[in-house]
Amino acid sequence: MNAQELRSLYVEFFKSHDHAQIQGKSLIPENDPTVLFTTAGMHPLVPYLLGEPHPAGNRLVDYQKCIRTGDIESVGDSSHLTFFEMLGNWSLGDYFKEGAIRMSFEFLTSPKWLGIPPEKLGVTVFEGDETVPRDDESARVWKLLGIPENRIKYLGREDNWWGPAGTTGPCGPDSEMFYDFGKEPCGPDCGPGCGCGKWLEIWNDVFMQYNKTADGTYEPLARTCVDTGMGIERTVTILNGKKSVYDTEIFAPIIASIEKASGYTYGSDPEKDKSVRIICDHVRASTFVLGDPKAVSPSNVGAGYVLRRLIRRAVRHGRKLGIEDRLVLSPIAEVVVDMFKGPYPELSDNRAKIIAELDTEEQKFLETLKNGEHEFEKLLPNLLKDPKKIMSGRLAFKLYDTYGFPIELTDELASEQGLTVNRAEFDEAFKKHQELSRAGGDQIFKGGLLDHSEETTKYHTATHLLQKALQIVLGDHAAQKGSNITAERMRFDFSHGAPLTAEELRKVEAIVNEQIKRDLPVTMTVMSLEDARKLGAMALFGEKYESQVKVYAIGDFSTEVCGGPHVEHTGTMGTFKIQKEQSSSSGVRRIRAILE
Ligand code: ALA
Repeated sequence: MNAQELRSLYVEFFKSHDHAQIQGKSLIPENDPTVLFTTAGMHPLVPYLLGEPHPAGNRLVDYQKCIRTGDIESVGDSSHLTFFEMLGNWSLGDYFKEGAIRMSFEFLTSPKWLGIPPEKLGVTVFEGDETVPRDDESARVWKLLGIPENRIKYLGREDNWWGPAGTTGPCGPDSEMFYDFGKEPCGPDCGPGCGCGKWLEIWNDVFMQYNKTADGTYEPLARTCVDTGMGIERTVTILNGKKSVYDTEIFAPIIASIEKASGYTYGSDPEKDKSVRIICDHVRASTFVLGDPKAVSPSNVGAGYVLRRLIRRAVRHGRKLGIEDRLVLSPIAEVVVDMFKGPYPELSDNRAKIIAELDTEEQKFLETLKNGEHEFEKLLPNLLKDPKKIMSGRLAFKLYDTYGFPIELTDELASEQGLTVNRAEFDEAFKKHQELSRAGGDQIFKGGLLDHSEETTKYHTATHLLQKALQIVLGDHAAQKGSNITAERMRFDFSHGAPLTAEELRKVEAIVNEQIKRDLPVTMTVMSLEDARKLGAMALFGEKYESQVKVYAIGDFSTEVCGGPHVEHTGTMGTFKIQKEQSSSSGVRRIRAILE
């Protein structure tokens, strides 16, 4: 079974169980400062998991492109990926544990669907702790369906809990499904969830059952929800009797294009194979980031920084395959575009941009490498004088900081000359540098649920007022390109070719504050996307919407397609103040504002 067949079957199965198919969303989360990328199918659905009604109903199914960079260093083995696709089904206050588990089991094992023999499956459930009891209900249902006790493993929060990272909000135990490769158990404790290679996680059913309160206690939720996620690449792997995701049809054409670019034959050298897998994953991820409707370019902060890292790491591994001084990433990206443009048409829409950005970044990095090597050679005579043959970490950091020269390459060049780099010293300097440029790190954590505090809600409404005010003052072209909200401030990016004048800024601020003073009611209506457009509702250009959307109106002032939530009356918002206006990228301005 190939990925496309799996996508279709999954959607068809859940449709047959009364789920509405919704569109997967952008890789760049809207309105969420806690993560740089969409890390799970649930991410765009957080407002609905928190209680907002969804226009498509309360049983939903979709496929969603995701990126997780937490495991970037593990990419290259047989199962880790930065970019992956997640199939998901949701119950918003509808079925709960029994319903979800029964459907998961039916889809996995029924010959009509995936037909995996039940004896190849194992599951984990939450073992309980001092605050939340053991999830006996999930275990009961699994047993009822025929999973024997010795294939049900009870694990703690590390493995079987999904919820707000440190803050408040809905959360709960999850139950994960694993495929047994049939290897001998690695020890007496080996069971589903064990990382020895016997078990591969393919699906996770999350049961949002509690609300974590500010004092750290867990209250039962009035409206429980289910959020599930099945990894497409892993499931295709086991369905085809493969051991590694990279051995499936999902990657075969990409690997072939890397072979073509390098002249290296995959399978002939384990170290080089690892480089092939890294290039494969990183080029696929970069292609999807560059092809996303929300524009991201390589840069030194945020998502752009992760993109830059992915591209540069791919180039470095290309060198390990003997590719030097030639641009090779874009032909590989072309293959990715052609493979995935069916389910993700944005890739072919943005093909030219993907190719151009990859070429530019690769070219830039090649120059960086050349300059770095040149600088290293200049340092060399002095370095060789050191009787201990040690290159200081400080110097290695200077190469990195000034010329962008990666430490791994300094290591390589040094060792070719019989020198060792003082890595501890380098790491220390690097850590200091990272603390200074906090925004560069990637801040991804499991289940980064959105903050739905009163303060952030006010900022959500403020983005709508600001959007309209900007269009009144600057013209219709001043449309939203992105936003980022915390409980303390908002950032808003919009198309405009020049800095705003003091007068324009004053006018925008005054218009927003006038709407706040008017204490306008905020109302929500569900309608078809077409009706919303007819109404002149503002929508994010390039974003995908369902056929039925929610439209928020702020009095007679603004209408926008939006998931919410919003304040009920603008009068509660305080005073709107613009703190900064600057360039965000070419043709895009950024406003930072607060509510006092
Ligand atoms: N949100 C859950 C996961 O990503 C389903 O594992």
